[in-house]
Amino acid sequence: MQDLAVYSILLEKEIAQIDFPKTPSNLYDPLRYFMQLGGKRMRPVLTFLGAELFGLKKEEVLNAALSVEVFHNFTLIHDDIMDEAPLRRAKETVHTKWNHNIAILSGDVLFVKAYQLLAKQDPKHLAELLHVFNRTAQEVCEGQQMDMDFESRSDVSIDEYVEMIRLKTSVLLGCALELGAIVAEASTEDRQHLYDFGQHLGIAFQIQDDILDLYADPEKFGKQVGGDVISNKKTLLNLKAKELANPVQRELLSQLETEQDLILKVSKTRDLFSDIGAREACEVEMQKHYDFAMNSLKQINVADQNKLSLIALADFVMQRDN
Ligand code: IPE
Ligand code: IPE
Ligand code: MG
Ligand code: MG
Ligand code: MG
Repeated sequence: MQDLAVYSILLEKEIAQIDFPKTPSNLYDPLRYFMQLGGKRMRPVLTFLGAELFGLKKEEVLNAALSVEVFHNFTLIHDDIMDEAPLRRAKETVHTKWNHNIAILSGDVLFVKAYQLLAKQDPKHLAELLHVFNRTAQEVCEGQQMDMDFESRSDVSIDEYVEMIRLKTSVLLGCALELGAIVAEASTEDRQHLYDFGQHLGIAFQIQDDILDLYADPEKFGKQVGGDVISNKKTLLNLKAKELANPVQRELLSQLETEQDLILKVSKTRDLFSDIGAREACEVEMQKHYDFAMNSLKQINVADQNKLSLIALADFVMQRDN
C-alpha cells in the first residue's frame, strides 16, 4: 500500500529521533531496541489520514501520531509479558531479551513518553485530545483484562469476544483517526463517523490477527505461530470452531486444550479448525466489519477523493500477511 510505505519512511526517521537518556541503560536500551524493530506503523498513519481527510497537513499532527505509536509499543511490551510471547517483529521480545521487571518498567516509560509527545500539540486542542486518549488508554486495559480472563473460561460468547477485541484493539485505531480529526477541527458528526470507521476496521484487523496467529507463514509473521492456541485464547477461530463442530470434533477440541505437547497441540488444532471451516467463518465476520467500516466512511461529509487513502489502508488491513 503506497501511503503506508511513504509515511513509514517519515515515521521511521521521526521515531529514530525520539530521544531516550543513556542511563540507566537497562531502562532505556530496551526502548531503543523495541522502537526500532519496525512494525507496520499503521496507527500513526491513521492519525495522518484522519487529519488529511479534512484537508490538514500531516505535519500538524506529527506529535499526536508519534504519541499513538509510542503508546501502541508500550501495550505490546506489556502484552508480550502477559501472553508469554517469545517473538515480536521477528526479534526477541523485551522480557525475553532482558527480563520481566525491565519490560514492565521500560513499558511504563513509553506510556509517559506518549503523553509527552501528545502534549506538544497546540494547547488549544489538548483538552479534547487528552479526553479521547485517556478514555482509550483505559479501555485498552479493560480489553486486555478481558482477554486474559477469557483464557480460563469455556463459555465466552461471540458478542463478548467482539467487545473484548473492540476494547483491546479497535478503540486505539478509532482514537488514532480521531486525534487527526480533532486537530483538523472536523465536525462532531464527522469525528464520530470516522471513529466508527476505525472501530469496525479494528475489529476486522483483530480477526485477521487471530487468523494469522495460527495460519501465517512463520517467515513473514514475526511472531510465534500458534501462540493463541498454546494459551487457550478465545479467538474468533476458537469460538467459531466450537460453534460449528460436530459432537466428536467438539470433544477433540476440548481434549486439545490440555495437550502438553505444544507442537502437537498447535498442529492438531490447526487441522481440526480447518476441517470444521473455522477460518472461512472468521473471514465472513471480518468482511462484515469491513463493510460496516466502509459504510461509516461513506457518511463523512468530505469529497470522495479525500477518502481514497483510507480505503486503500482498509484494503491493506484485509490482505496483510503480518
Ligand atoms: C499488534 O498490532 C497488536 C494487535 C492489536 C493485534 P500490529 O500488528 O499493528 O503490530 P506492529 O506494530 O505492526 O508490530
Ligand atoms: C494485543 O492483542 C492487543 C494489545 C496489545 C493491546 P494480541 O495479544 O492478539 O496481539 P499480538 O498478536 O500479540 O500482536
Ligand atoms: Mg499478544
Ligand atoms: Mg494479548
Ligand atoms: Mg494476536
